[in-house]
Amino acid sequence: MTERKSDELNRSTAFDNRLRPTDFEGFVGQEKIRDRLMLAVRAAKDRGESLDHVLFSGPPGLGKTTLSYILGEAMGANVKTTSGPVITKPGDLAGLLTSLEPGDIVFIDEIHRLAKTVEEYLYSAMEDYAIDIVLDQGPNARSVRLDLPRFTLVGATTRIGLIASPLRARFGLVNRLSYYEPAELAEIVRRSAAKLGVDVDDDGAAEIARRSRGTPRIANNLLRRVRDYAQVNAGNFITGEVAKASLTLLEIDPNGLDEMDRRVLETICAKFGGGPVGLSTIAVSVGEEPDTIEEAYEPFLIMEGYLERTPKGRVATALAWERIGLKPVSRQGELNL
Ligand SMILES: Nc1ncnc2c1ncn2[C@@H]1O[C@H](COP(=O)(O)OP(=O)(O)OP(=O)(O)O)[C@@H](O)[C@H]1O
Ligand SMILES: [Mg+2]
Repeated sequence: MTERKSDELNRSTAFDNRLRPTDFEGFVGQEKIRDRLMLAVRAAKDRGESLDHVLFSGPPGLGKTTLSYILGEAMGANVKTTSGPVITKPGDLAGLLTSLEPGDIVFIDEIHRLAKTVEEYLYSAMEDYAIDIVLDQGPNARSVRLDLPRFTLVGATTRIGLIASPLRARFGLVNRLSYYEPAELAEIVRRSAAKLGVDVDDDGAAEIARRSRGTPRIANNLLRRVRDYAQVNAGNFITGEVAKASLTLLEIDPNGLDEMDRRVLETICAKFGGGPVGLSTIAVSVGEEPDTIEEAYEPFLIMEGYLERTPKGRVATALAWERIGLKPVSRQGELNL
């Protein structure tokens, strides 16, 4: 798969919105998180209070935005959406927060990208429901305290490691989403197919699920492509054979590895004899940030058994060698320097 293609497969589109579940029943998997959120919603509603602040973290396409909107629906609250890089100065944040109604949800996507100065304002907003605005400059400078309505901040991030601990500590509910099991992805494919008006059998759904890199967004995007093929070639019915044929035609990796996954494995095997090799060395070799490798790629590769984390560094498994089509380098007789 080319990089462009894999990027496209994990991009948010209008298609996302169409298939996005709007309530907890429609949300497949992540059971512990779902149960915890349902409980929190119920308790807050029973008490007639706003919901505690909620943080979602995890790799792209696993449902952070979806859950944020589901929370809004479940609470019967307005959701005001913004994102970290959009709020460039404290005044932007103050403008947003002072326009809220009690119980509103403020959804800040990519919250790890908030400017430091803005983040500090958020602390008192989250904790005391007030912000101190500084008026004028120099000797005339004075600050005015603005009270805010009780609101709920919902933050989403793909980079939990970049969230400062004072911010993190102000979230009552911190949820780390994990990759989905094949059976859960197959269920998502079946539900999405029903919404799209295309038939899919269990084999077809399983075939798409297997190549989805544990990610609902990729499952939905693959389904869309397979649907085109099924419509033209197979009477709008996705069987295992139809799915396999179309995904092969599209050169989608049968195990769900994307371009960067393969590059990481190839680097460790071909350049570093299978490891152990340090994270930062891998990152430099593939031209990606160490944090991104650690948070967006490594968890999937470890989960699938391609990579092991050892005290000396990352080590490729036999499965990794097999997948990239190389023979493991014998490490016997190697000098232990
Ligand atoms: N648990 C789920 N059940 C059903 N569909 C899901 C689930 N999670 C995600 N999806 C589907 O995947 C799409 C992508 O999810 P979402 O936009 O919530 O991901 P995200 O975690 O916010 O990603 P990003 O980090 O890129 O913003 C959604 O539109 C929805 O169709
Ligand atoms: Mg999102």
